[in-house]
Amino acid sequence: MIRYEKVNGDFNLSGKSAIVVGGAGGIGEATAKMYARKGANVAIVDCKDNCQEVADALANEFGIKTVGIKCDVTSQDSVNAMMGQAVKALGEVNILAAMPGFVDLYPAEEIAIESIQKQININAVGVFRICQAAANQMIRQGKGGKMVCVTSQADFIAIDKHVGYTMSKAAAVGMIKVCALEWAKYGINVNGVAPTVVNTYMGERAWQGKVKTDMIERIPAHRFAETDEIAAAVLFLSCPESNMITGEDLVVDGGFTIY
Ligand SMILES: NC(=O)c1ccc[n+]([C@@H]2O[C@H](COP(=O)([O-])OP(=O)(O)OC[C@H]3O[C@@H](n4cnc5c(N)ncnc54)[C@H](O)[C@@H]3O)[C@@H](O)[C@H]2O)c1
Repeated sequence: MIRYEKVNGDFNLSGKSAIVVGGAGGIGEATAKMYARKGANVAIVDCKDNCQEVADALANEFGIKTVGIKCDVTSQDSVNAMMGQAVKALGEVNILAAMPGFVDLYPAEEIAIESIQKQININAVGVFRICQAAANQMIRQGKGGKMVCVTSQADFIAIDKHVGYTMSKAAAVGMIKVCALEWAKYGINVNGVAPTVVNTYMGERAWQGKVKTDMIERIPAHRFAETDEIAAAVLFLSCPESNMITGEDLVVDGGFTIY
């Protein structure tokens, strides 16, 4: 059962421990900062080398407990070791924000199967691997928990050259729904946040020049999103304020998919 908790709109996370995978930059770092501001202890997890640096900066700014853990979500051993380190450092795991991501854009008639497999391996299987590891930890703790996976507007709409990415993100949405169904009995909410283009390394890599200006033209809000706007949606789905929402994929797209 996912229990009712009286809420007041404070989005308070003090006493909670959160793991942010993909946390060493972009939307992940913005999310980790918002969690820290709301009082959560945070593990910064990423395959990049700067996890501890990001974690230390948060600890200094917000006076919370943090740890940086290098981890590759395509490796089961790496994910198992990461979960052990996170629990050792933070005591328990109450929130997982899962947003490791990789995009590789080609026309559908040209894309190599290996490219599709790599995107699925990170964006779908890798995300499931960390959700499964976190779920087992949360089930052992017996206090429920929150999982939020960052998906994409590509779940809802066809985007040119996005076939591999869309296959991976659509798979993640299916996974979110099944896990939400199966883990509700443990008090675990599982949701997605589906952004439009966000001004990050990944966003800039995929959207340049005319493709960028054309895309902005088609978004009713007439701009790309900023990382804090996506982090705010992830925060909402990580708090008791959203206890009655599970299996959802919340679009944050400035209206792009309303056509
Ligand atoms: N930026 C956009 O336009 C946009 C739009 C929709 C969805 N998203 C999604 O948002 C999420 C965050 O992306 P971002 O925009 O902040 O870009 P980003 O490149 O800054 O962040 C992605 C992070 O995932 C990490 N990562 C990649 N492969 C990994 C692996 N195997 N193991 C562990 N970590 C790994 C990267 O090191 C990076 O820090 C991704 O899932 C992305 O698909 C981004």
